[in-house]
Order: sequence, then C-alpha cells, then structure tokens
Amino acid sequence: MTKTNCKLTKTKNFDILFKIFQESTYYEKDMSKKFFMKMYDRKHTEIYLINKNQGFIFLHSNNDFGVYIRPAYQKKGLLKKAFLELVRLSPRKYYWGTIRVSHTHSMAAFSKLGLTVKGLVFAIDYDKIPQDSNFKSTGIN
Ligand SMILES: CC(C)(COP(=O)(O)OP(=O)(O)OC[C@H]1O[C@@H](n2cnc3c(N)ncnc32)[C@H](O)[C@@H]1OP(=O)(O)O)[C@@H](O)C(=O)NCCC(=O)NCCS
Repeated sequence: MTKTNCKLTKTKNFDILFKIFQESTYYEKDMSKKFFMKMYDRKHTEIYLINKNQGFIFLHSNNDFGVYIRPAYQKKGLLKKAFLELVRLSPRKYYWGTIRVSHTHSMAAFSKLGLTVKGLVFAIDYDKIPQDSNFKSTGIN
C-alpha cells in the first residue's frame, strides 16, 4: 500500500476527539464525554487525527472502523485518503463499519470506498420492548 498525502496521527486525546464528534450528525445532546469514551477508549482501539484536526478515524480490534470528518472538510475526498492511510498503517484481513440507515450520504460514501452491505443491525429502545407475551409485531416501526 503506497503512502497517501493524508497524515494520520495516533491519539487518545479525548478532548479533541469529543469536540470533533460533537460537530457530527451522530452526536445527540444528551451524549456525555464519558459515554463517548466508553465507545472509543478501549485498549486495542487505534484512533488517529486526520491532518491534525480535520477529523478522526478509528479502528477497533474486531476490524470495525469509523470516520468523523469535520463539516468544513467534508465532500473533498478526504474519506478515501484517510481510509487508505489507515489500511497502510494497520493492515487487516477485512474492515467493516456500521452506519445508520438514515445517513444516506454516509452509506453512499462507504459504498464508494468499495464496502458492501453484509447484514442488518436490529435494535429496540428499552421502553418499546413489548411486555405482553401475545404481542405480535409487524416488524415495521
Ligand atoms: C461520511 C463521511 C465520512 C464522508 O467523508 P467525505 O470525506 O466527506 O466523503 P468524500 O468527499 O470522500 O465523498 C465520497 C463519496 O461519498 C458520497 N458523499 C459524501 N458526502 C455526501 C453528501 N453530503 N451527500 C451525498 N453524498 C455524499 C459521495 O458519493 C462521494 O463521492 P463523489 O464525491 O464522487 O460523489 C463524512 O461526511 C463524515 O464524517 N460524516 C459524519 C460522520 C459519519 O457519518 N461517519 C460515517 C460513519 S462512522
């Protein structure tokens, strides 16, 4: 894998990382820095700042990766450069990532990278779990 002109710098500076995350559409107002750190502050998780402060890219030990590019630097082809640099620095047999179905632009971006849909993640909020044993779901929400 040849070197790209995108600089990745390994970090665990969660002040900077959380600031970048707060600018993204994945941030919800009730998400605390503590919660954010629970997701990313893992022993074998590699986190890199992209070009100093343009965003960050992470890779968990199970090959799950994700990217947050700050709005001012989006739509300039940075995702591909950052991903290729991550692959160069940390080669794995495969890479995968999760994206919310409502984030159509992120799905388009991941598809453009060559990733394909391998499955679907089903989730339910605690207060929506049906208590009635006769409950029949339509599967549509
Ligand atoms: C999704 C994200 C990583 C894309 O990064 P990016 O550097 O802006 O993407 P690129 O400029 O490399 O664009 C790659 C492709 O993605 C698609 N894309 C990117 N932004 C888009 C937008 N706002 N609307 C529609 N398509 C978009 C396009 O298909 C684009 O290819 P094209 O320019 O040839 O048309 C970036 O928008 C981001 O960080 N978003 C917030 C966090 C997030 O959603 N992360 C992904 C899940 S972890």
